[in-house]
Parts: sequence; structure tokens; C-alpha cells
Amino acid sequence: MKEAFRAQKISENVWWVGAVDWNIRDFHGYRTGRGTTYNAYLVKGEEYVLIDTVKHPFLSQMMGRIESVVEPDRIRYMVSNHSEMDHTGSLPHVLKMIQPEKLFASKMGAKALKKHFGSWINAQTVKDTETVKLGGLDFTFLETRMLHWPDSMVSYLPSDRLLFSQDGFGMHLAGNERFADQVADDVLRTEGARYFANILLPYADLILKLLARMEELALPIDILAPDHGPVWRKDIGTMPGLYAQWAAQKPTMKAVIVYDSMWHSTELMAAAVSEGLAEAGAKAIVMSLESCHRSDVVTHLLDAGALIAGSSTLNNNMLPRMADMLTYIRGLKPKNLIGCAFGSYGWSGESPKQIHSMLLETGIEPVQDPVRVQYVPDDEELLKCRDMGALVGNRLREITGKGE
Ligand code: FEO
Repeated sequence: MKEAFRAQKISENVWWVGAVDWNIRDFHGYRTGRGTTYNAYLVKGEEYVLIDTVKHPFLSQMMGRIESVVEPDRIRYMVSNHSEMDHTGSLPHVLKMIQPEKLFASKMGAKALKKHFGSWINAQTVKDTETVKLGGLDFTFLETRMLHWPDSMVSYLPSDRLLFSQDGFGMHLAGNERFADQVADDVLRTEGARYFANILLPYADLILKLLARMEELALPIDILAPDHGPVWRKDIGTMPGLYAQWAAQKPTMKAVIVYDSMWHSTELMAAAVSEGLAEAGAKAIVMSLESCHRSDVVTHLLDAGALIAGSSTLNNNMLPRMADMLTYIRGLKPKNLIGCAFGSYGWSGESPKQIHSMLLETGIEPVQDPVRVQYVPDDEELLKCRDMGALVGNRLREITGKGE
């Protein structure tokens, strides 16, 4: 693999030795429409240090890239910033192959590695803000618990002013462009937002604390090297700035209407709700779960002020795709949203009430009782849907201060 897969130098002492996964389309429920990369990094001081590894099926690709720089058994140290298997799937194999002198991880990372791969994995633990000299180069470790797992940490390399930020500031984006400045801005922003919405949203408050801490520490950073997607060597503040914006979840005049319909009645109601929103000056995004993926819906929620959800009733329940959608949203814990529920039914009509309850459980404040319609909505019932949209729009005007 030495010739086909080569390392790419990203700074004076660091090579990217990761892998490109062009075709992954599902990341535990998150649709990764543009694939991803698993970024591992090789650092050359007096000795070699390997930062993170790749998902197991890509082991040989990573080893090929390492071999293009150095014989792998010359790697003296390894660092595991995050124990999730997209970064550690190859770790036990690499440990056996190259038998490094030491493996470093956070305290929780060391435990997690044993639980994943067996008690034979002995990582030396590093504390928050601890600096360790490896191969003559200083590495400073900062714990970033719950970003993305309890074990997570980042590693800072002062010699190269480089931060290995593991999942943070990354995105699922396959490509041979190794640097963000080689990728179109709209792609970076879209995929960065999708990653944040689908992976990091539940930890938004922790992200705001981390950003404040980074500002306090004022580490000089010229290179931001995440574990997914491109490396940043220009405009280093772009992703932290976007993270601050996304984590704040400031409501806007945008409402996401998500629905699932059996015979187009709920669909018609959704369309009427959108008309009311427009009348109140709000932007409506109407998403049918027949054609839109849950990942796209939550990405739209990232800069929205309202979630309006509708489903027909099937066998005394909301439709399965709506149950999936609301369960996914509940887990992501969005903040600062208002909402409401609607739906058509034949005889029992539980679905809108169930949606209303799920909105409450998710911390989304319903602005009114659900609108329920038996069979097919008539003009009067569609007007109720339109009024509901207008009510949400007017509430958004009050909340966002756009009413004056
Ligand atoms: Fe990319 Fe949380 O692993």
C-alpha cells in the first residue's frame, strides 16, 4: 500500500495519514451524503507519534500512508483523543503491529479503550492541561468531556501551533482535498452545520463553555486538525465562530414544518400552516418525511425558531416515520423552539396529541392545542391550520423582536 496511499504533509512536523470513506451514508442514524474521512496524524520529532487511528476497514490505507513516511515500527508513541471506533477501530491492530512504548489517553479514555478492546490495552493517562514531551516535542492535552464522548480530549502541538481537535470542528466530507481552503465555502458551511446538528447539538452548552475556555487559554493556533473532514490552515476562526452561533440556538423567523401523511390530508394541512407563517412574515420550510431524511430536518432546526409537526393516525399512533423523527429530535435536545402539532385521522385521532406530548418532552413550547381533522380537511379546517401558522409566525416576531 506504500505507493498507492501516501501521507500528506500539513505542517512542519505533521502528516495526515488518515483514510477516505467515500461511500458511507449512515452514521448511526445521521445520513452522511458526502461520505467522510477518518483523520489520523503522524508527528515527527526525534521520535514518531501517531495521533488517533482510523475505522478498522481502513487500517491498510492508513498503514500505507504511514509507510510512505517511515517504517511503522519507528512510531514510539500513540495518542488516543477519543475512543469511538471510527478513530480506534484500528488501534488494537496498530498496537500489536508496532508495539509503541506508550499509548496516551484521558482517564476515561483509558477505561473506554479497555472496555472496547480488552484489558490488555494499557494507556498512560494524561490530565487536563498536562504537557508531555514526546520525541522532543511538547504535547498539551485538554479534556473536552462529552465532546463527543465522556473520554474526549484534544491535543495541542505548540511547535506547529496545531490543535488536534478530534470530533470538534470536523465534518463528514469525503475528498482528496486535504485543506478547507480547497473546498467551496457553502459545502463547508452546510456539512459543518449537518455535523453540528446531528452529533453535537445535545452538548451545545458545553461547546459554549469550551469556546470560552479556548479564548481564555489563547493558544496560538495556525492549524486546526479535526478527525473528520478537511484541515484548516486559513481562516482558523471560521468553525469556532459558526459553533458559537449554532450553539447559541438563537430563534429566528424560520419555522420547520415536518409531516407524514397517508392520503394527503395531513399534507394539505401542512401547506395551509405554511401559508399562515408566510402571512405573519415567517419563513416556512415544509418537509415531508416521505422524501426528507431526519438528518436534513434537524439541520434546518439549527437556525429555526419553531418546529411544527403533523402526522396522520395509524392504529392509534402517529405514523412510524414521525415517531422516528421526534425520537431523534428529542435525543438532540434542541433549545429555544416553539411549536405545535396537527394531523388528520379516521376515527380515533391520537397522533396530534402524541406529537404535542413529545414536543413538551423535548422542551419545545406548543403555542396552542393540536389541530385535528377527521378524514379530509374542509375550508374551515384549513383556515384553522393557516391561523395556527400565523400564530406561530406572530409569536416568532415577538420572540425575535422582528415585530416592530
Ligand atoms: Fe468521530 Fe465521536 O467519533
